[in-house]
Amino acid sequence: MLSGKNILIGISGGIAAYKICELIRMFKRQNANVRVICTPNALNFVTKLTLQNLSQNEVGIQEFDVADFKPEHISYADEADIMIIAPATANTISKIATGICDNLLTSVVCAFKKPVIIAPAMNCNMLDNPVIQGNLKKLASLGYKILEPESGFLACGYEGKGRLCSLEKILEEAAAILNSTGTKKKYVITAGGTVEDIDPVRYISNYSSGKMGIALADEAFFQGNDVVLISTVDVKRPYKVIKVKSAQDMQNAVNEEFETADCIIMAAAVADYRVKTKSDQKIKKTNDDSLTLELIKNPDILKGLCERKKEEMLKQVKHDRIIVGFCAESENLLENAREKIQKKGCDFLIANDISRKDIGFSSDYNEVTILDKTGGIKKLERASKNEIAREILKEINE
Ligand SMILES: Cc1cc2nc3c(=O)[nH]c(=O)nc-3n(C[C@H](O)[C@H](O)[C@H](O)COP(=O)(O)O)c2cc1C
Repeated sequence: MLSGKNILIGISGGIAAYKICELIRMFKRQNANVRVICTPNALNFVTKLTLQNLSQNEVGIQEFDVADFKPEHISYADEADIMIIAPATANTISKIATGICDNLLTSVVCAFKKPVIIAPAMNCNMLDNPVIQGNLKKLASLGYKILEPESGFLACGYEGKGRLCSLEKILEEAAAILNSTGTKKKYVITAGGTVEDIDPVRYISNYSSGKMGIALADEAFFQGNDVVLISTVDVKRPYKVIKVKSAQDMQNAVNEEFETADCIIMAAAVADYRVKTKSDQKIKKTNDDSLTLELIKNPDILKGLCERKKEEMLKQVKHDRIIVGFCAESENLLENAREKIQKKGCDFLIANDISRKDIGFSSDYNEVTILDKTGGIKKLERASKNEIAREILKEINE
C-alpha cells in the first residue's frame, strides 16, 4: 500500500527518537521512499549515520546546506507525499503551533501543504501542561493529524500518559491517509446540533457536540478527498467549512453542495421542530403561569435528499451518490433504525445509542451499528470517534 510513496520523517529531540530507526525500516519494507530530517537536538538520541543507512538517503539537519537553486526546506516539502513528525517534542509541537521556523524541520513543516502526522512523546507532566494541550488542540483544529500518546511506564521513570504511540499505528495512519485507491471523491458532511431561535435571546437546540461529523470530515480529508463540512460548530479546518445555524440554513447549504457531491453524510442532529413564529423582540415574562410556543416541523433534509437522488437517477441526470444518515436513539436502537432506513430511503444508516454516557453526545468515543439498504448490519465496537469514522468510511465505500 505504501510502495513508491514518498515519506518524510521528522525526528525531534525526545528519548523515543531511537524507536524511529525501526519505523524507517517498517516503511522501507513496504517499499516506500523515506527521507529523514532531524532537529539538531534529535542527534543527541540517534546518529545521522544510522538514519542515513536505514533510509538510504542523506539526512537533513542544516537548513543552510543548499545543494541547488531551491532552498532545502522547500525541496523537502515539495517532494514528500506525507510528513510524519515522530517523536514530536513539546518544544517542536509548540514551535509548529506558533509558526516558528528556526531549524530545517520546523521550516519544512511550515511550508508543507500535504498531510502531516504528529506523534507526540514526552513526560506525562509536560503533556498535561495546558500550554502543550492548547498547542496540540490548535494543531488538530488546523488539520494536523495528532496521534495520541499512550499510557505506561515512561523512560523518565514516571508512570503515565506520554509514550509514543505504537509504530504500527503510525504506519497504519500513514497508509490510511495515503489511501491505496487514490480515487478522490467529494464528501459533504454535516455536524453539530441545529439551533432554532425562539426570540433574540432564546433558542431550541440539542446536546450534539459535532465531534462525530468533524471526525468523519477529518478522516475523509486525510484520505485525500475533497471535503465540505456543514457545521453548526465553529471549527477551523484546511478544507471548506460552511457554518450554519438552523435546520433551514443547513438544508440550503446541503442542497447546494449535494449538486456536486459523491457522498453525503448527515451526522448532524437536526431539530425536528422550530417555533412557528420567531419573535423579533425578547418575549417578556407575564403574570401567566405558563407560556405556549407553537412548533412546526422542520424540513426532513435526509428524506429530501433521498427523494431528489431517486428522481435525478430516474431522469439519468446524475450519477449514483451515497447518502448516509445517522439516527440517535435512546431505546430500541435496532428496531427504530430499521424503520428509519426504510422510511428515509438512504443507502446507509448509522445508529447511535445516546442513552449511554460513555459514548455518543459530547464523548470522544462512540459505538455504532451500520445498517445498509439491503438489510446488512455491522456493529462497530466502542472506539475513538476517529477510528469509528475511518471504519464508517471503509464500510460505505466497499
Ligand atoms: C534525556 C532527555 C530526554 C528527553 N526526552 C524528551 C521527550 O521525550 N519529549 C520532549 O518533549 N522533550 C524531551 N527532552 C527535552 C528536549 O530534548 C528539549 O526540550 C529540546 O529543546 C527539544 O528540542 P527539539 O524539539 O528542537 O528537538 C529530553 C531531554 C533529555 C536531556
